[in-house]
Order: sequence, then C-alpha cells, then structure tokens
Amino acid sequence: MLPDDVILAVEDLEVSFANQAQKPLRAVRGVSFNIARGETLALVGESGSGKSVTAMTVMRLTEHDGARITAGRIMMRLKNGQVIDLVKLPEKHVEKLRGSEISIVFQDPMSSLNPVFTVGDQIAEAVTHHQNKTKSEARAIALNVLKLVRVPDAIRRLDQYPHQLSGGMRQRVMIAIALACRPSLMILDEPTTALDVTIQAQILDLVRALQTEIGMSVLFITHDMGVVAEIADRVCVMLKGEIVETNSVHEIFSNPKHAYTRALISAVPRLGSMADRDAPEKFPLVVYEPARSPVKEIG
Ligand SMILES: Nc1ncnc2c1ncn2[C@@H]1O[C@H](COP(=O)(O)OP(=O)(O)OP(=O)(O)O)[C@@H](O)[C@H]1O
Ligand SMILES: [Mg+2]
Repeated sequence: MLPDDVILAVEDLEVSFANQAQKPLRAVRGVSFNIARGETLALVGESGSGKSVTAMTVMRLTEHDGARITAGRIMMRLKNGQVIDLVKLPEKHVEKLRGSEISIVFQDPMSSLNPVFTVGDQIAEAVTHHQNKTKSEARAIALNVLKLVRVPDAIRRLDQYPHQLSGGMRQRVMIAIALACRPSLMILDEPTTALDVTIQAQILDLVRALQTEIGMSVLFITHDMGVVAEIADRVCVMLKGEIVETNSVHEIFSNPKHAYTRALISAVPRLGSMADRDAPEKFPLVVYEPARSPVKEIG
C-alpha cells in the first residue's frame, strides 16, 4: 500500500491540544505528505504553523505534551521492509523505533545534551539503548559516527563534555547521536537557527553529504527559504496547521501558487542586495496576515 520508494507517508493527520478555557486547539489539520528514500522534504511556515507538532507526532512524542492524534495515519516503512501505522503502535513498540528507524535533532543542542556526561558516553548510550553491544564496541561506533559528522580530532572529543565544544560542534554531536543507529529517516527541527550563518552553511553541507553517503531520508523543518533552497528536494508550506502547498523546490521558487508561499519567497534577499554588508545575514521571519498586508517582516 506504500509505493516502494516511500519511507514515510503521513495521511490526513489531525492533532489537537486540550484547552480547558476554550475549544481544543487544532494544531495540525488534515496534513498529508510523503518522503521517499533518500529524499529531503522541507517543512516551512511561520511560527506556530504546526511544523514541530507535526514532527513530534511522527516521533509519537506530542502525546507526552498533552496532544491527541484525532485522525489520520503515519505509515512508516521499517528497515526490515515491514510497513506499520505509527499512530496505532503501542508506546513500548514506538520507543524501540525512536533512534533506530527515525531520529530527531532539535534546534538547541545544549538543552538536548547532558552536561555531566562525555560526548562519547552520550553517543555510546544511544547505541547500547538499541543494540546489544559491549562498552568498547559502542565506543568504537561512537568514534566512527563522530568521524562521519566530520568532527576534527574525534578521539579526543569522545572524552570531552558538551561545554567544551562550540555550538556548531555540539550540533554535529547531536547529529552523530541521531545517526548512531542508522535510522532511515532523520528529522531536523530548525537545526541551524541558533547558529551563525557560516556554521549554519557547514551543517547544511554536512546533512547533504551524509545523505549522499548513507542514503537516508530527511524531514527538514525551517522558516528560512534560503535554507530550503540549499537543502530541499521537495517543500511543504504550512500555514495555521495546514499544508497549503507542496511542490518540488524548483517549482516552489519558480512558480509559487499560494499567496503565503509568494510572501515567503519575496522575503529572500535579491542577488547583490547584500553587497554593502560585511557579513552574511539571516533571512527575516515572515508572518502572514492576509487581512492587512500580505507580508510583514518581524526580524
Ligand atoms: N505543548 C503544547 N501545548 C499546547 N499547545 C501547543 C503545545 N505545543 C505546541 N502548541 C501549539 O500548537 C501550535 C503549533 O505549534 P508548533 O510548535 O508546531 O509551531 P512551529 O510551526 O513549530 O513554530 P516555530 O517556528 O515557532 O517553532 C501553536 O499554536 C502552539 O501554540
Ligand atoms: Mg517549531
């Protein structure tokens, strides 16, 4: 029922948060998309549009935040070829898939890494959690993934603590942890937003290189159309809990259909418009307010 090359198919997904005072907040409304093997799908949209809730629901983590999946399916093709509906899976089975089949990297590595454990121990822990490996085998795997994410001087880094690393290196470590059990799908939720643009570009290069090397699929969440242009094969544009447009990255930029997509693209600086700046800058955040002006830049 899933086309052979599809790893994940989200179908008519609805997610709500209970809200005592008013009616439930429908954070995700009828969202459908699929991701092919080796493909990068970007999920873009303004703050609060439901990107993270969608991603966390694919990981089946939103329920822990009080959300309810009220409709839809999340079909996932496992590495063994089996296709399952993650929505129906009991928590104890879902737990086994996190990290080994799907993993997620968040924006802020400092709050995801444990400050009291070394980098090596944290990657090794991700390995032994899923695989029956000895301590020294897990350490060898940790070293390999650190090299895979191009952390220089990887042997020495294994025994360092998160605070001894730069922000970009910490994000590489987070990606290493996410890769440790070779999931077929990696979700990155604004992984570069907290980084300066030069480091951001390096992380994007890394994600692209890893994809070619290990052929995994990526769901990349961002509000930055510059990042989308760099990384995505296809794009879903989200607005107020719904996907308003899905297309190839080329079509999204050359022939945007929805007014909000056009607003996002018009916020991307024109070639040469940065000529008088010393350093590259982040793109502004776009808020869609059709009742007033279609584009409002807030940062
Ligand atoms: N734990 C929660 N409890 C209640 N409401 C929530 C919770 N998490 C998210 N929401 C609501 O769900 C909606 C979607 O939020 P979500 O975090 O998915 O937005 P986002 O697109 O990821 O935004 P951003 O770009 O700011 O990260 C918002 O209205 C948000 O307030
Ligand atoms: Mg978010």
